[in-house]
This record gives sequence, C-alpha cells and structure tokens, in this order.
Amino acid sequence: MIVVDTFDGVRAAAAGRVGLVPTMGYLHEGHLSLMSAAAAECDTVVASIFVNPLQFGEPDDLNRYPRDVERDAGLAAGAGVDVLFTPEIDEMYPQLPPMTSIRVDGLTEQLEGRHRPGHFDGVAVVVAKLFAGIQPDRAFFGRKDAQQLAVVQRMAADLSFPVDIVPVSTVREHDGLALSSRNRFLSTSEREAAAALSAGLFAAADAVEAGERDGATLESIVRRAAAERGRLTLEYASLADAATVQPVSTLSADSFLAVAVRVGETRLIDNVAFSVVGDNVIVDRGVRLDGPSVLEGG
Ligand code: PAJ
Repeated sequence: MIVVDTFDGVRAAAAGRVGLVPTMGYLHEGHLSLMSAAAAECDTVVASIFVNPLQFGEPDDLNRYPRDVERDAGLAAGAGVDVLFTPEIDEMYPQLPPMTSIRVDGLTEQLEGRHRPGHFDGVAVVVAKLFAGIQPDRAFFGRKDAQQLAVVQRMAADLSFPVDIVPVSTVREHDGLALSSRNRFLSTSEREAAAALSAGLFAAADAVEAGERDGATLESIVRRAAAERGRLTLEYASLADAATVQPVSTLSADSFLAVAVRVGETRLIDNVAFSVVGDNVIVDRGVRLDGPSVLEGG
C-alpha cells in the first residue's frame, strides 16, 4: 500500500478497474468491509481519509472528530487497500468554502437533513470532488448511512459521473449496535442503552418477515423500543423510500426503516433495509461481528 496526498498521485498509482472507498478515517470493521468488497471486485483499491469540514454543522463536532491516520493505515493495508489518499485541506479545497455548491433537492431536507442543515450539501461536494479527481469505476458506500447512499446515487446520476455506486451492508457489534466512530463517546451505561436502537429495528424486521407492511406500525415498534430506555431521546423513526427518501405508508418498494436518537451528548443513527422482490420482502439487517470490534477492543 502506498500513501499519497494529491489527486495526481492517486491517478498515477491507479491501474485497471479502480474502486474507491471514501471515509473520514478512524477506521472500524464497517469501513474495512467496504474495502474488502472493493478488493474483491477491483484491480486497484483507493481509500480516502479526509475529515470534510463542509459537512459539519457545529465546529465542536469537527474538532472532536477522532483521528489516527497511522492506525488507519495499518488497518487499510490489511483490508486490501492499494492506495491510501490522505489529502491536506488545500488539495481538497483550493478555496474554502468553494464557490460551487451541490444540493440534491428533495432527498436532503428530511430525516438527517432536518437535524443537520447543510450536511448533505457538504457530502455531495466532497464526494463529487473525489469522483472527479480520482475517476473510480466503482465507489463503495455503507447502507448504515442510507440517506447519504441515496444522495450519492442521485448526485452521480444527475452529474453523469461514470461510476457504479455499490451499497454494502451495515456491520454491527455482537449486541447489534451499528459500528460508528461516535460509539467511542458513549459511557458504559449509554453504550448499554444504545443497544435498544438495533433491537427495535430488528423487532420491526421480524414483523415485516411475519407479513407486516404498514409504515406507521413499523415505526411505532421502533419508537416503543427506544422509549423503554430512559436514556434515549428519539429524534425520528421513519420508513422511507430507498431512492427518493420520501415517507412510505405501505412497504411496497425498496425502502429503509431509519431511526435517530440522542444518547446523552451523542447522536446515533441506524436502519434496516428492505428490498421488494415480487410479493416477497428481503430484509438486510447487516452483519454482526463474532467478537469485539477494533473500536471496543482498542
Ligand atoms: P464515514 O462516516 O467515515 O463513513 C465512510 C463509509 O463507511 C460510509 O460509506 C459509511 O456509510 C460507511 N460505514 C460507516 N459505518 C458503517 C457500518 N457500521 N457498516 C458499514 N458501513 C459503514 O460517511 C462518511 O464518512 C462521509 O460522509 C464521506 C462519505 C466519507 C464523505 O465525507
């Protein structure tokens, strides 16, 4: 694996079919599963680590975002990354903020967008810049951030980037909690309460597998699970169309059941994804690690 900090350096090192895995670093098995998926399908795997200031609302959030590039480099190399791209701010943004903006209308006002104004505009710009500067054939994104996945797919199609967007299932701790760099901010008791998030989603997934299709019923299952834990403040529980991110009243097309909570100072999001094939609904609950993750272990 080589580490480069310019777009020119990435393009000089990339050969054959190029797979891109954009990240903000502080890698965990969720990121590593995107890298392994890319390695299985591509000749050159490029992973980027860049904490994108444009997608953070509060300066505090940006400043406390965890960073450890040395540790990340070891993990990325082990997951099959060939080129690790770690640009400085000047390489990504010759001018900050850039005068060009990208907003994906209709997909970004609701759910996470409502709680984090401007967030998805910042994501859209940085991902567009990575696509333009690296020119990958495929780019890998986690289903964990289902709305982000929809935004990136729409942006790439609208702007004619010749890239296939590949969704990858959510990786979870042994108790179901989706891996996130934010999990490290949870105290022991908050960490325990946070398990109710995935438990509620799995209960709703069970209901879907038993034939339930009503959006409001599925949302109330998630809401109830969160309410059982005093420490969780629910921000939303919503069944949304996978492509348009519009609310869905009856599950009849590809969609995701999304939930966001506050646990103390920390915000957590999670979802389960549903794909509709004929009369059947296939549930993607993600995959669980057997043992503790690199985050919990290290
Ligand atoms: P980051 O939060 O570092 O996530 C990088 C990628 O890893 C995203 O595609 C995200 O969906 C995926 N991911 C995170 N947790 C995961 C999990 N538990 N299982 C599977 N995949 C997971 O998302 C971003 O960075 C940024 O917004 C970015 C796209 C890099 C643009 O700045």
